[in-house]
Amino acid sequence: MKYHVGVIAGDGIGPEITAEARKVLDKVGAVFGHQFDYEDILMGGCSIDAVGVPLTDEAIAQAKASDAVLMGSIGGNTATSPWYQLEPSKRPEAGLLKLRKSLQLFANLRPAYLYNELKEACPLKDDIIGDGFDMMIMRELTGGLYFGKRVTEVRDGLMTAEDTLTYNEEEIRRIAKRAFDIAGKRRKKVTSVDKANVIDSSRLWRKIVDETAKEYPDIAYEHMLVDNCAMQLVKDPKQFDVILTENMFGDILSDEASMLTGSIGMLPSASLNDTKFGLYEPSGGSAPDIAGKGIANPIATILSAAMMLRYSFDLDQEADAVEAAVKQVLRDGYRTIDIMPQQEDKKAGIKQIGTAQMGDMICERIVK
Ligand code: IPM
Ligand code: MG
Repeated sequence: MKYHVGVIAGDGIGPEITAEARKVLDKVGAVFGHQFDYEDILMGGCSIDAVGVPLTDEAIAQAKASDAVLMGSIGGNTATSPWYQLEPSKRPEAGLLKLRKSLQLFANLRPAYLYNELKEACPLKDDIIGDGFDMMIMRELTGGLYFGKRVTEVRDGLMTAEDTLTYNEEEIRRIAKRAFDIAGKRRKKVTSVDKANVIDSSRLWRKIVDETAKEYPDIAYEHMLVDNCAMQLVKDPKQFDVILTENMFGDILSDEASMLTGSIGMLPSASLNDTKFGLYEPSGGSAPDIAGKGIANPIATILSAAMMLRYSFDLDQEADAVEAAVKQVLRDGYRTIDIMPQQEDKKAGIKQIGTAQMGDMICERIVK
């Protein structure tokens, strides 16, 4: 089969890590007999520099016309980059939010899985880690605080800022259904995370999740308050299978979960709508401090490409092959700097490699 992949390399480490994911897709193509062709799409700071805005209508049209989009990362150093002198709607992140909204990518899947080989990189104690953990964070991506009305103005002589957190029942229902569907293919447990003891949108969230759960009698589910969830993630991460939550809570909890896997450079993501289309990107940012040094971890982006194979192209065997190659490379002792063991006595048999070498090592291990 032939697949048309839009590529948003973006800013910072984005171009380096997407290059490795493309290498891996090409290797999958060679081994399994598929063809991937790529179309570069401008978004983020690089788009601001080139055409003055973070996302053009043309770029949206290019993304829509692709079978799926692979993305690196966008944005720069918020303290020093001139992009952050622009008004908020013209900054790099505004491009990403506009793309998510334009393509209706309401379901963001962020799997946090602890590889056995990376237990050393997990900041938790051994007795908490146990046999590791494997959870899927389902983050609602096109609603809530990110897309509500916002305003900054003087009220009663005081500078005042307001952001609005809005959800309607349909927005909650569609992401809840996705979460229960995915749990059905995993360990059959959904933890819905909210702040229903304080905010109305969470109370509606809880009501709609309760209704949705009735359609899935074989899936266990529970509600958890977001502050408790943040604590439970470090206290007992194995308890989680699917975490279902709204946009902002999911943003925060997924960064926390990523660190438990050893590094934010390990966490892939898929953003899906009601069609087979998806936007696939690592959960981490553009890491401007290490951009261009050839040391960024490309694994999250490569695993995002594996998610693309699985969710947009239904190529499960190919996705399995990529995931197996990542496991094998770790088993063989190769690490980028972010996942290198810290203590000297843990470094035996472990070799530090750069971004491109990691891509090559993974390609070498892709077999049918
Ligand atoms: C993420 C990022 C984005 C978000 C930023 C870059 C707007 O942190 O994908 O988690 O907050 O959604
Ligand atoms: Mg985030």
